[in-house]
Amino acid sequence: MIKKSKIIVTGGLGFIGSHTVAELHAQGFEVIIVDDLSNSSINVLNGLENITKTNLIFEKMDLKNKSLVKKLFTKYHDVSGVIHFAASKAVGESVTDPLKYYENNLITLINLLKEINSLKTKISFIFSSSCTVYGQAKKLPINEDEKIKQAESPYGNTKQICEEIIQDTCKTSKNLKAISLRYFNPIGAHPSNEIGELPIGKPQNLVPFITQTAIGKHKELTVFGNDYPTIDGTCVRDYIHVVDLAKAHIQSIKRLIENKTVSNYDFFNVGTGKGSSVLEVITSFEKVSNIKLNYKIGPRRNGDITEAYADTQKANNVLDWKSELSLDQAILSAWNWEKKIQNI
Ligand code: UD1
Repeated sequence: MIKKSKIIVTGGLGFIGSHTVAELHAQGFEVIIVDDLSNSSINVLNGLENITKTNLIFEKMDLKNKSLVKKLFTKYHDVSGVIHFAASKAVGESVTDPLKYYENNLITLINLLKEINSLKTKISFIFSSSCTVYGQAKKLPINEDEKIKQAESPYGNTKQICEEIIQDTCKTSKNLKAISLRYFNPIGAHPSNEIGELPIGKPQNLVPFITQTAIGKHKELTVFGNDYPTIDGTCVRDYIHVVDLAKAHIQSIKRLIENKTVSNYDFFNVGTGKGSSVLEVITSFEKVSNIKLNYKIGPRRNGDITEAYADTQKANNVLDWKSELSLDQAILSAWNWEKKIQNI
């Protein structure tokens, strides 16, 4: 039964979305990729087709358009689930253009949920959330009992609001069950080297900035502060291999489809459980690439929290999922990918 389940993956050509499509296919699901290509490339579809050795179904679509969402569910009336990645995700841009974020991230979700609510079939729904909902947590590692903080950015706020919208909808919907996955810091690329992260413009995230500096796109990396109360003064994060993260989506959708849930809505932290400092990430990069990275210590970045890493027990126990790949493996895969795409 499960093997033939059809799943719509919105934002399926994005970084985490594309890796999840690859895993869904490997696990025997039929995938319908939906993406508006606003922050992704059609080349990712070629990469996915090389990995899966099949012609994948792709619908170029803006989910803000209600009637298109209706058409999508009419065309694929027998879907069992939706994994919803499609969203704007640049924290800085969300501060300068908040309405873009509220419009893109909220309207698309509302359109999907409204349409799902009108269906007669049961739909399992996975939402792409973020550990950013916790802000600087009181207790480390961060477990799901940690209080949600006032969001630091409109982007973070959309994640909180979306989680609430889904939770409220699950309370009354007759056919919707949902899980939100709160990601820590996804990095790395698929082992086939066919898909990976494709930052548009200058990356804000650490690992793509490291690999782009090493390949020569930037003169040097600035480490944002070394006076934090951490092991070496630099910020600590939980960097998770994107393939491990993708697998958490498979476990989650299976759990919902197989009706293993007690309540209609649940949420999980998805990380490795291990924190790494910025300098530890740089050391890992230098080790796996055999390259000396050009970096300097600079001032703190506004809005950065000191330390965040996940308590993964709930995901381990309930989803029967655990990250398996190491920081070195993740960084090496990111480096291999950077070398492949250097001319793009
Ligand atoms: C950022 C986002 C967060 C998002 C997450 C994963 C912010 C404030 N938060 O978190 O919402 O969910 O990415 O995509 O942007 N660093 C440097 N030099 C650099 C870049 C980063 O030292 O050039 C440091 C940062 O200070 C931080 C760490 O590296 O300590 C990781 O940074 P980043 O990859 O941007 O992730 P987050 O800040 O955790």
